[in-house]
Amino acid sequence: DWTMESFVEDTIKEIRNKVGDRKVLCALSGGVDSSVVAILIHKAIGDQLTCMFIDHGLLRKDEAESVMETFSGKFDMNVVKIDAKDRFLGKLKGVSDPEMKRKLIGNEFIYVFDDESKNIGEFDFLAQGTLYTDIVESGTDTAQTIKSHHNVGGLPEDMKFELIEPLSALFKDEVRKVGEECGLPNEIVWRQPFPGPGLAIRVLGEVTDDKLTIVRESDAILREEIKKAGLDREIWQYFTALPNMKSVGVMGDARTYSYTVGIRAVTSIDGMTADWARIPYDVLEKISTRIVNEVDHVNRIVLDITSKPPATIEWE
Ligand code: XMP
Repeated sequence: DWTMESFVEDTIKEIRNKVGDRKVLCALSGGVDSSVVAILIHKAIGDQLTCMFIDHGLLRKDEAESVMETFSGKFDMNVVKIDAKDRFLGKLKGVSDPEMKRKLIGNEFIYVFDDESKNIGEFDFLAQGTLYTDIVESGTDTAQTIKSHHNVGGLPEDMKFELIEPLSALFKDEVRKVGEECGLPNEIVWRQPFPGPGLAIRVLGEVTDDKLTIVRESDAILREEIKKAGLDREIWQYFTALPNMKSVGVMGDARTYSYTVGIRAVTSIDGMTADWARIPYDVLEKISTRIVNEVDHVNRIVLDITSKPPATIEWE
C-alpha cells in the first residue's frame, strides 16, 4: 500500500529534521499505539531514542517479558524497564472504588514516569502515541466522565519536553497498517484492547496480589483456548474478571468455598457499543474445565451475556 509506505517515509524524515542530534524519550506500554510510535522514531533516530516501559504489576501473563523481548531483543532498542509493582499495589491497598482505582493508577504512572525519567538521562522530546480520535474525544466526549481514561493529557505540568506525536492524524486501523509496514509482530499489531489500569479493573473491589494471580492465570487460559479455536481475530476483546464473591462447590469428597471467575468476550467495532460473543459451547466447556482445574481458589465459572449498553465491556 503506497500511501502507508510514503507516510512512514515522510514521518521518518520529519522526525529526523525535528530532533536533529537531540534525544527522545518514549513511554512504551506494549499497546499498538506506543509500539508504533517507538518503532517509527527508532527508524528515524536509532539510539537517540530511549523507551521507558513501566511494569505496574497489573499486566497480563508474560506481557512484560514479551514487550522486552520484542523491543529490547528483536528490534535492539534502548528500553528501560521500570518494575513499579510495589508502588502501584501500595497505592491500591484498601481502595475498592473503580474510579478511585483508575485515578490512583493514572497518577502513579505520572509520578513513576517523572521520578524515573530523571534517572535515565536528559531528554529534549517526549514521544506519545496520541491518535486523531484521542484528540477529538478528550476535547468533547462524555466517555471521559463515564470512565476516566488516563491516556491523554496526563503529563506532569512542570515537564519541559517538546512533544512528538507522529500518529496524531491517524485512525486506529491506519496505525495498525503503519505497524505492519514497520515490521511489528502480529501479536502487537492485532493486540486486543487492554485498559491502562490493566488487571486492576478486572479484580472487582480491592486489588490484592492473590486476586491478581487468579485473574492473570484464568485470563491466560482463556486467551490460549480462544486462539486455539481460531477465534482471536473474530472476537474483539476477551478476558476474565474476578467478582468479589465466593460460592460453595464440591471437589472430591470435600466442600469448597472459593471464587467465581467471569468470562467476558465481545464483538465490537470501536468499543463504544458491543455485543457478547457467541463462543461455541465446546470451547466454553474447555475454558471452564481448565480454569477450575488449573487455577487455585476457583470453583465456578460464569459467562457474561450482556451487550453494551446497558453493560460496559469491562466490569469496572
Ligand atoms: P468500557 O468498559 O467502558 O470499555 O465499555 C470500552 C473500551 O475501553 C477500554 N477501557 C479503558 N482503556 N483506560 C483505558 O486505557 C481505562 O480506564 C479504560 N476503561 C475501559 C476497555 O478495555 C474497552 O476496550
